[in-house]
Amino acid sequence: MTDRILIVDFGSQVTQLIARRVRETGVYCEIHPFNRVTVDSIRAFDPKGVILSGGPASVTGTDTPRAPQGLFGMGLPVLGICYGQQTMMAQLGGKVEGSDHREFGRAYVEVSDACALFEGTWSPGAREQVWMSHGDRVTALAPGFRVVATSEGAPFAAVADDERGFYGVQFHPEVVHTPHGAQLLRTFVRTICGCSGDWTMASFRETEIAKIRAQVGSGRVICGLSGGVDSSVVAAIIHEAIGDQLTCVYVDHGLMRLGESEQVVRVFRDQFNINLVHVDASDLFLGLLAGKTDPEEKRKIIGKTFIDVFEAEARKIGGAEFLAQGTLYPDVIESVSFTGGPSVTIKSHHNVGGLPDRMNMKLVEPLRELFKDEVRALGRELGLPEEMVGRHPFPGPGLAIRIPGQEITREKLDILRKADAIYLEEIRNAGLYDVIWQAFAVLLPVRTVGVMGDGRTYDYALAIRAVTSTDGMTADYYHFDHDFLSRLSSRVINEVKGVNRVVYDITSKPPGTIEWE
Ligand code: XMP
Repeated sequence: MTDRILIVDFGSQVTQLIARRVRETGVYCEIHPFNRVTVDSIRAFDPKGVILSGGPASVTGTDTPRAPQGLFGMGLPVLGICYGQQTMMAQLGGKVEGSDHREFGRAYVEVSDACALFEGTWSPGAREQVWMSHGDRVTALAPGFRVVATSEGAPFAAVADDERGFYGVQFHPEVVHTPHGAQLLRTFVRTICGCSGDWTMASFRETEIAKIRAQVGSGRVICGLSGGVDSSVVAAIIHEAIGDQLTCVYVDHGLMRLGESEQVVRVFRDQFNINLVHVDASDLFLGLLAGKTDPEEKRKIIGKTFIDVFEAEARKIGGAEFLAQGTLYPDVIESVSFTGGPSVTIKSHHNVGGLPDRMNMKLVEPLRELFKDEVRALGRELGLPEEMVGRHPFPGPGLAIRIPGQEITREKLDILRKADAIYLEEIRNAGLYDVIWQAFAVLLPVRTVGVMGDGRTYDYALAIRAVTSTDGMTADYYHFDHDFLSRLSSRVINEVKGVNRVVYDITSKPPGTIEWE
């Protein structure tokens, strides 16, 4: 088994970043909520070290979260971060108090002593930038520890017990605002815990293929392909594991962007030689959408029809007992709940609109352990084209929610497709595709008067949208330079018949949303 690290989550906003940093060093890790972690569960997981995350609680309160006391007697290295440091100190005989000197944001620590955690990164006497976010602080050390760094607000900014491999830091090494934080985490997992760093996408591919084969046996699997990153990678890895036992179904609702459906067929049927059922259901979808303008009604129609068509195709194939799903790790991490006592909230995510519940099939979820950027890396490893693995998110209802407040027709879809393709081409040409999180054009329900040549035009206005974001929950509009905007505007108006005006959406989220509907 590959070496692994256990991250005990006390509910910090940035716990996932700890996992990302650990995995970037080639070490597999999992996040488990503190109220599910026991000495037995740690033993069963068999980690080479444990990281205690930060969290919103105060160690000074009554009945606040703790690490299992037995953890400190298991002979495993432990790194406590922020709340994790405080609870470790309190549990091992030190003292934590509330402080009126709170530190939030950028701070500096003075490195006062050497320790194994700082080896090769920080030297005594150095002043180093870190990111802090705490009210409480350690005021008395637990026996066996010594101070190795101090800050203005935290006299015990970093503490160490090299003998037992116990370290505590008040700052957050997992965020980019602690410039050497990733290096410190690397030293902890690779040197102090002794993890080998052999967890790569190449090794993941191998073990996952073995797992898929063991789960599926000689059974058959159906996979709904959408052309997006997750379902594409799911299809590619399952195909590599079980070949023709996999059938992919691509329901083409007629609301895809220019050339997208053709690309799905080309890559999966022609390049990967996968059994692919391509259902052109555009007449059905567009017929049901005729006259509909309300965004939620459109979403419902598309979602329900998608499932109907998919189910009908699955029946035709007959006899598949497994359904492939592109569930990712952020969807399965149990989040820590402080309000409902020990209960936990489990986020569940159905990327093909509730299919698994309806179809009552066993799930194959090869991406359950991966973060999105790891899925992209696996896709590259499997030989999927870059334009597929690096693709921006695209909503399930497709272009239907980018023709807002008006009836969707084939004519409008064609106009939008052409304009959107030019927009994305210009973004790629400017080298901006990977900087922007999502970009698209929106065909507005207004016609405006223009003049082209000697003639009057009366055509649609097009809005362009581009945002930067990390998860789509919040977003800032992308700040294009004026040359880019001018070039785009003249290209779209000259090349796309039906559009005579281009406007630029400068709304962030919140208060706007990313899509217009
Ligand atoms: P909003 O517009 O809510 O979008 O800020 C956030 C992200 O979600 C995508 N989105 C959808 N994805 N079905 C989907 O699969 C939908 O109905 C849907 N609506 C929005 C949107 O493109 C953005 O990435």
